Amino acid sequence: MRSFAEHVQAILVGSGWHPSLFRSEMEILCRKRPFRFGTRVMLVDSNYDFFEDLNRSATLDECLSPFGLTTDISSLEDVIEGWINENNLKLIKGKSIAVRWVRIEGGINGLNGQKLAKFCGKILKNNGWKIDLESPDVELMIIIDGISEHIFWGKRIISKHPRDGWVQRVATERPFFKPISLDPRLARVALNFVIRNSETIICDPMCGTGGVLLEGALLNQPMVGIDLDIEMVKGSKENLEWLEQHNLDLKLQNVYHGNAVNVNELLENKNIRIGGVVFDPPYGKNAWKSEKRKDLFLDVLKNIRKANGILFGAGLVCFLPIKPGLHGVNEPINGEIDLGDYSTTQLKLEFNKMGWEIMGMHAIPIHGSLARMLVYANAI
Ligand SMILES: C[S@@+](CC[C@H](N)C(=O)[O-])C[C@H]1O[C@@H](n2cnc3c(N)ncnc32)[C@H](O)[C@@H]1O
Repeated sequence: MRSFAEHVQAILVGSGWHPSLFRSEMEILCRKRPFRFGTRVMLVDSNYDFFEDLNRSATLDECLSPFGLTTDISSLEDVIEGWINENNLKLIKGKSIAVRWVRIEGGINGLNGQKLAKFCGKILKNNGWKIDLESPDVELMIIIDGISEHIFWGKRIISKHPRDGWVQRVATERPFFKPISLDPRLARVALNFVIRNSETIICDPMCGTGGVLLEGALLNQPMVGIDLDIEMVKGSKENLEWLEQHNLDLKLQNVYHGNAVNVNELLENKNIRIGGVVFDPPYGKNAWKSEKRKDLFLDVLKNIRKANGILFGAGLVCFLPIKPGLHGVNEPINGEIDLGDYSTTQLKLEFNKMGWEIMGMHAIPIHGSLARMLVYANAI
């Protein structure tokens, strides 16, 4: 159980994959909007102890705390030396340390990371630390960011990257795969937007091959999936069984055959209360133009709002087709943007009519002629 603390501060570095999603995911996991440096670095100062939650992230590469930062290369060595001598690393006798460094967004001209790391190593040694590059107790990480032209350093809190394992988990590795399978990183971000606590059941009413259910299982989150196509229901179950290699309690995951339009009745008959929704409706180039698909989507949106357990503030994430090339669109809550077959204003109105308020949107390019919008909303 996480607690609220005075101030928890950290530097957060994104992986570079969808920077706008990174920013939103960090805001949600840290329960505070971080201050932004360039595209990939943020500083967060929250009264919520967020470190454990950050392990769930799909977009984070590094978390440093305590940390220091500067833009001034000329005084850099003095500043870092002062920072180390102030005992920011909480020296414990006998502990070993390694200094690592990374250049992002091209680094900074004239700044040699290796030389700086060696310099820090010398100071640490003088302070009584044992240098161990193989398996140190503590890592001092230096980030040289070419966009914000800042140098950040600090104790590496997340040393095993949360994104480790994405490659092994790509949909093509699963026993049941279809090209519709959602990228596990997108499924993870979507879940992070809607999970309010580890007990609430999250529903994917159009679960397909189970992309969202699998990520939920890895987070130990109770999940329920529904699909109209019996082949998908069987395939999702097969994929979940395959996950048993992770020793997860799959009793938490259920998949049913049914129509998402009747989702509230279906869940009620099974006595299931859900607290959040993630889904990915059938898509294609002109999905929204096809009235049938649009009506299906709006019916699901309307009926899932009535599901037992979906209360005011419950979260929903869905993916909608948009015209390609809208890379810059994120959180366009104010102002009108043409998304192709509809505008942001029309979308907001449709959601409102169905009992949801859009909180944010992120354009996700899929390939040259297809893009989708991740829309996240809260129940009103
Ligand atoms: C884009 S796919 C979902 C992909 C899924 N997120 C995954 O990771 O595999 C859309 C799914 O919606 C299902 N579907 C279409 N109409 C449906 C309906 N009325 N009720 C429930 N499922 C439906 C399709 O069978 C398909 O599996």
